[in-house]
Amino acid sequence: MYTEKVMDHFQHPRNVGEIENASGMGTIGNAKCGDIMRIYLDIDENQIIRDVKFKTFGCGAAVATSSMATEMVKGKSVQEAMAVTNKAVMEALDGLPPVKVHCSLLAEEAIHAALWDYAAKNGIKIEGLEKPKSDIGEEAEEEDY
Ligand code: FES
Repeated sequence: MYTEKVMDHFQHPRNVGEIENASGMGTIGNAKCGDIMRIYLDIDENQIIRDVKFKTFGCGAAVATSSMATEMVKGKSVQEAMAVTNKAVMEALDGLPPVKVHCSLLAEEAIHAALWDYAAKNGIKIEGLEKPKSDIGEEAEEEDY
């Protein structure tokens, strides 16, 4: 039921890990399943995403979409990264089964949350970027566990 690309990214996920002193970090929980995704961005002075890492407590589809999404934003400007939607990521993976489409939102939302964090820290505005709705943040996480 998964495409070869999904299986490849699930079995060999790219960019897993964390970045110390990241320029931006976003954590998103998926209310439907309780899975969690965290994205770290390293952004240079020209607003280019130099490096990106992710960590997830999520299902296989979440791992595969995050892996692909990180590959797609690496080397891009923060503005270009806004075009990496869950739809674009799913297309790059040759599709996901319908029941797994919601999983692909985790990566997009976590990237947006990390960009929001970066923009807030640097006092800049990224065109089209809205405050993340479901960023569970550090504090909420501590309360949850
Ligand atoms: Fe939770 Fe896929 S089932 S992210």
